Amino acid sequence: MNRYAIILAAGKGTRMQSNLYKVLHHVAGKPMVVHVLEAVEGLKPEKIITVVGHGADEVKSALGSQTEFVLQAEQLGTGHAVIQAEPLLKNLEGHTLVTYGDTPLLTAETLDQAFQYHQANQMMATVLTAIAPNPFGYGRIIRDEQKNVLKIVEQKDANADEAAITEINTGTYIFDNRLLFEALSQVDTNNAQGEFYVTDVIGIMKAAGENVGAYIMPDFNESLGVNDRVQLAFAEKVMRQRINEKHMRNGVTLIDPATTYIESDVKIGRDTIIEAAVRLKGQTVIGSDNLITSGTEIIDSKTEAGVVIRQSVIEESLIGRGSDVGPFAHLRPKSELLEHVHVGNFSEIKNSTLGNGTKVGHLTYVGDATVGESVNFGAGTILVNYDGKNKFHTEIADYAFIGSNSNLVSPLKIGQNALIAAGSTVTEDVMADDLVIGRAKQVNKVGRAKGKPHYKNAE
Ligand code: UD1
Ligand code: CA
Repeated sequence: MNRYAIILAAGKGTRMQSNLYKVLHHVAGKPMVVHVLEAVEGLKPEKIITVVGHGADEVKSALGSQTEFVLQAEQLGTGHAVIQAEPLLKNLEGHTLVTYGDTPLLTAETLDQAFQYHQANQMMATVLTAIAPNPFGYGRIIRDEQKNVLKIVEQKDANADEAAITEINTGTYIFDNRLLFEALSQVDTNNAQGEFYVTDVIGIMKAAGENVGAYIMPDFNESLGVNDRVQLAFAEKVMRQRINEKHMRNGVTLIDPATTYIESDVKIGRDTIIEAAVRLKGQTVIGSDNLITSGTEIIDSKTEAGVVIRQSVIEESLIGRGSDVGPFAHLRPKSELLEHVHVGNFSEIKNSTLGNGTKVGHLTYVGDATVGESVNFGAGTILVNYDGKNKFHTEIADYAFIGSNSNLVSPLKIGQNALIAAGSTVTEDVMADDLVIGRAKQVNKVGRAKGKPHYKNAE
């Protein structure tokens, strides 16, 4: 049986009160509609068609080439939106999933189960339903005395008896492709909102004597439709819990999962321990046996095994095996720490490579540098890499020792085993094995402190 899919994503999302189109609001770091597309891709449909309207260009660029697009120029309702896909699907043999871009929690497994129900029962239409603790706002599933599905009634069209029903329309359906478009041509706008509802297709097919059913999904939360920011936060919470449970089952310790924010594409190795209030974002990959302490934020970065990160911010960087970072360090984009590197308190690294065993213990800035093995940076070292217009590169060879409070004015090369005396301002290249002292010579004036404002007689 050929499978096709239509994702509706043309609405504005008025209830979000936002300048950003609804389906582009993020859940666990990704636009809602991208989550939907990923779930739909799990079904391996022959075609996926996304209906765009409000923010069409933005929605298209969020979704990329995994789907075809059709434009719904005016938003006249969900039924009208589906009709826009007709030119691409009309005469095709098979079954078509219709789903909404604002239901980010749906999983490929549930969609597949609905398809299996649909096929096993030879349905012409199957609606995915759930039992809602509070059904307000959703379409209600109307059944006859034998429990057969008759139709769907929207909240705004429901009488008191219908409104009391707790079985809701999740907004996902599977239809025989040809019958879908036949039925859609009969949908009208005689309802409270004056819109073409796709939900009416269920009643139309049933009245025509077709086999119509409902697959009740076990977990209502998975069906959550996000119409406002309160529901967005709830979706985030459910998704967070789902992601966190997956990692815990795979052998990651989360000390306080309720406050641990891991975006959906992040990967984490076994026996890593993650404390409360950690955020792992984007395409981050965390190795095994890491320890990541509270308050750390890691974005699009990779750590190897045995890394320790304390209360730090890491962006687009690589941290090699056995290295440790923080507390209170900042790795800015393109920082690469090889193995057993130490970056300590109040240090910032940017666009630099630090070789094995190199130590940047405290209060140091390393920018635009290539640093060899076992280099030691004293406290308060600054790589002076910017003249107000251009950035320059610094090269520091293995075993160099940079004394505290030095300024290394780039472009600069420092040779192997060189020793920079504390407090030096270095403006010229340094050869291997050289000792550099680049500071004013100390002068001691005997007894001249006496009588200065701070001066106290020792009694
Ligand atoms: C819809 C269903 C309701 C169901 C609920 C599940 C209808 C009429 N109602 O209500 O039964 O319980 O979802 O979450 O379908 N859209 C378009 N073009 C339009 C209108 C909407 O593309 O002209 C898209 C929206 O971008 C959105 C989706 O369709 O992604 C659903 O629209 P929305 O207005 O959120 O419908 P609900 O009121 O939530
Ligand atoms: Ca909705």
